[in-house]
Amino acid sequence: MSIKITGTGSALPVRAVTNEEITHLVDTSDEWIRERTGIGGRHVSTGETVASLAARACGLALENAGKSAREVELILVATCSPEDVTPCAACQVQEQIGAVNAVAFDLNAACSGFLFALHTAWAYVESGIYQNALVAGSEVLSKIVDWEDRGTCILFGDGAGAVYVEKCEDGGILGFVQHSDGSRGHVLSGACRALENPFFHQEQTKNYIKMDGREIFSFAVRQIPKTIEEALARAELSAGEVDLFLLHQANRRIIEGISKRLGVDMDRFPMNLERVGNTSSASIPLLLDEINRKGALKPGMRLVLSGFGGGLTCGACVVEWQ
Ligand code: UT7
Repeated sequence: MSIKITGTGSALPVRAVTNEEITHLVDTSDEWIRERTGIGGRHVSTGETVASLAARACGLALENAGKSAREVELILVATCSPEDVTPCAACQVQEQIGAVNAVAFDLNAACSGFLFALHTAWAYVESGIYQNALVAGSEVLSKIVDWEDRGTCILFGDGAGAVYVEKCEDGGILGFVQHSDGSRGHVLSGACRALENPFFHQEQTKNYIKMDGREIFSFAVRQIPKTIEEALARAELSAGEVDLFLLHQANRRIIEGISKRLGVDMDRFPMNLERVGNTSSASIPLLLDEINRKGALKPGMRLVLSGFGGGLTCGACVVEWQ
């Protein structure tokens, strides 16, 4: 038994921000950003929230699957940039879409969050606890990005993607792997509020995203091909038998490095980072939805979804489309 994706949806904030606009904020250029990352623009929230974007994406995924909100049994929202500690974004989504029968909670594994949430949904369905789930990745990173740091503010964008998954007997998720390495957490960090109470006081530091870009770059290029091979071995497939590789949209050069190591042509690695930048946990379902809505996915096609990011975390999932 496994789960199959029967609906996809996505949502972006209305405001699109070009590289040229970023050059008015930090010392950078459109040419540098495009050449070093492949990013040409991103969407930035002017009021949209993690929950409102996720709710839009989930609503579209349900519509795409031909299901009603009342049928949903589980809602998982992966995010590392929620507005509220409580209620969690997933409960806000439940309320906004009217999924009155669902249980809902959030999950944070940074840019690997959507994949880890998808695998969690698989575990719930496989064990018979639930029959279906809405799984979303949603981020409003613009509120935790340091807009004075050219090493990070050029990269990230806001947005959400979601899938509706159901129990299936054949196909669907054929194999997956996930890894965490907490000893390298400092490579990509974003602090919360400092500890402050009547009994203790801690100096508040700037709680923005801090990143060692080169470290993450080499982690992704070295680790992701191995992780994909591991997931493919579990599915008893080789890279040559995969139709499309949908990777976390962090940097075009990272994706090129991974394609080279896997020995697979770049035309099997669709990308949307030129328009949306790095949307962390939203990037894989956002890309999947765009491809699905173009009608590019046919039954029997094999996809690899793979992501990496803060934690450090990474994972890969092999899917047979139905
Ligand atoms: O979602 C997962 C999390 N994040 C990632 O996956 C990010 C992974 N890393 C990357 O994408 C790349 O490392 C970056 C795009 C962040 C940086 O690219 P890079 O090729 O690794 O550049 P670098 O950090 O090695 O810097 C090269 C030069 C430096 O100047 P010097 O020391 O050579 O004079 C930087 O100061 O480029 C400079 N630089 C910039 N110049 C113009 C760094 N950022 C910028 C910028 N505009 N925005």
